[in-house]
Amino acid sequence: MVTRRSFVAGNWKMNGLKKDGLSLAKSLVSKVKKLDNSNVEIVICPPFTLLATTGSALKGTKIKLGGQDCHFSNTGSHTGDISASMVKDAGCKYVIVGHSERRINHREGNDIIKKKAEAALLNGLTIILCIGETLNQRITKKTQTVIRRQIVGSLPKSSRSKNTIIAYEPIWAIGTGKTATPSQAQEIHKFIRYQLVKCIGPSESKKMRIVYGGSVKPENAKALLGQPDVDGGLIGGASLVSSDFFSIIQSCS
Ligand code: PGA
Repeated sequence: MVTRRSFVAGNWKMNGLKKDGLSLAKSLVSKVKKLDNSNVEIVICPPFTLLATTGSALKGTKIKLGGQDCHFSNTGSHTGDISASMVKDAGCKYVIVGHSERRINHREGNDIIKKKAEAALLNGLTIILCIGETLNQRITKKTQTVIRRQIVGSLPKSSRSKNTIIAYEPIWAIGTGKTATPSQAQEIHKFIRYQLVKCIGPSESKKMRIVYGGSVKPENAKALLGQPDVDGGLIGGASLVSSDFFSIIQSCS
């Protein structure tokens, strides 16, 4: 029987100035220090402007730093973009790729996301690869087709359980207060794991962490993250309140 280490990441999105980031990170560090459990891998993904400040507050703690995106090129004429090597250089060990807000707001398709993911892996980052369906796709029963296409289209060949975490984030549940029910989440996570068998083989598929994202809160975390194929969470809104984020971490302990 394979045991997968729980994984919880906070996606701060475009929130926070230096003072906010620093106090949020410090408050979280002091809470996590009291957590006598090394079984949960904890990551926070602040905006790029806060990586340095937040990173300094996290130094020497068990909370690791992640970026929210990266470009697929290493250098060059890409105004406003940040490369995977820059994300790494800024102190990150992780990077989110394929978040639905990038897919929708920046029209990123599976091919671009795959290139970003490949660049991140080449630079030694662990990717948090986001996939998920829209409400319309769910209603019209296209969820599995969409998820399968996203996995096949955006998962790099070199993805393995040690360098990749899949985040299932139904778009209709992100920032809306609507969550998938624990059984809806489990159903899709199980389906994702089954699809992964075809891409990376049965043994790696069993080991790969698949986390849930979409309006996870302290009140629903235990039930959602307690499902057999749900290995943790990617947390947006609730990660901006240290007591809420900490309570979600505790749900995985
Ligand atoms: P939410 O965001 O927790 O605010 O729904 C999750 C995410 O977008 O990663």
